[in-house]
Amino acid sequence: MTTMTKNKSADALPLNTILDGDCIEVMNSLPEGSIDLIFADPPYNLQLRSDLHRPDNSKVDAVDDAWDQFSSFAAYDTFTQDWLKAARRLLKPNGAIWVIGSYHNIFRVGAALQNAGFWILNDVVWRKSNPMPNFRGKRFTNAHETMIWASKEEGAKYTFNYEALKSLNEGVQMRSDWVLPICTGHERLKDENGEKAHPTQKPESLLHRVLVGSTNPGDVVLDPFFGTGTTGAVAKMLGRDFIGIEREAAYRKVAQKRIDNTRRFDREALQVSASKRAAPRVPFGQLVERGMLRPGEELFSPRGRIAKVRADGTLVGKDVKGSIHQVGAAFEGAPSCNGWTYWHFRRDGKTIPIDLLRQQIRSEMET
Ligand SMILES: C[S@@+](CC[C@H](N)C(=O)[O-])C[C@H]1O[C@@H](n2cnc3c(N)ncnc32)[C@H](O)[C@@H]1O
Repeated sequence: MTTMTKNKSADALPLNTILDGDCIEVMNSLPEGSIDLIFADPPYNLQLRSDLHRPDNSKVDAVDDAWDQFSSFAAYDTFTQDWLKAARRLLKPNGAIWVIGSYHNIFRVGAALQNAGFWILNDVVWRKSNPMPNFRGKRFTNAHETMIWASKEEGAKYTFNYEALKSLNEGVQMRSDWVLPICTGHERLKDENGEKAHPTQKPESLLHRVLVGSTNPGDVVLDPFFGTGTTGAVAKMLGRDFIGIEREAAYRKVAQKRIDNTRRFDREALQVSASKRAAPRVPFGQLVERGMLRPGEELFSPRGRIAKVRADGTLVGKDVKGSIHQVGAAFEGAPSCNGWTYWHFRRDGKTIPIDLLRQQIRSEMET
């Protein structure tokens, strides 16, 4: 179970605020190694050469704002390298980053991430269930965006709430292609004239999945390209702390109002299915000590291999002895084996995985 405690470095942070300014300068002013997760939706560098029109001649509300303009790919690359460097400095050793982008920028961002020392964990395709059609009919309908998820460096112990994501997906392992609608209807923020307040507001469902999957309650999430504050709003709902950076006053205002109107879910609702890795360790020997399995009792593999339990919690099989994992691996000729799921015992004519006994002990520990 996760707790809502904060670490020391978080005390010096401007938590749950939207900071004004250029994100590189602002990030450089924050304490090193203080952030758990960064979610970044940087300028796409769309490079629109002319207005885009629908068949009825109405103008498409595309991203043509000043914040998305760069003079060249080289200028965009320099900007990307600079903000990624600042972002990486801020991350805790086991922190991670998500960057979302389209074909216009994501390949450049991906290379820059690797060059900066990040370790790519996955690329997730957000497939839009309701994409904008391709009005000219000259290319495929652009129906997805790509998110790159990376840890600060290779081997870092990043947060991944595998079980929670599996529960979110009705018991099926979460895949790297997410089908979610773009932000429309009541969620889409409007300005005083009833126009979209921001051209690239992301759906809350996307951030919900990112934050449930890769943070815990009480974690600090930074978004250096805050826009309408989707990351902040979802972080608040989920009991995470956020820091937003946005240099346009109009967007900061919209985001602040949105977050003020957002309520945090109650504490109990924020607890999610725990990862098995986080569950307390139960040595196999404990099953023997407690008489759940008897020395001399036979265990069976799915393919009918047999080993006997010894009094010290090891197994002995034909020509091999060792832990449940070692004997399983030797039988299979494999480099490793999860003995807990590999070995089964028999009771009343039924074949039952030994993991069931471990779960029984774990549930006693929780009560
Ligand atoms: C793609 S939008 C992010 C939209 C946001 N994810 C949302 O859901 O509303 C990028 C935002 O970054 C801001 N921005 C661009 N360059 C910036 C910079 N150097 N420093 C701070 N903000 C910047 C833009 O003003 C814009 O609002």
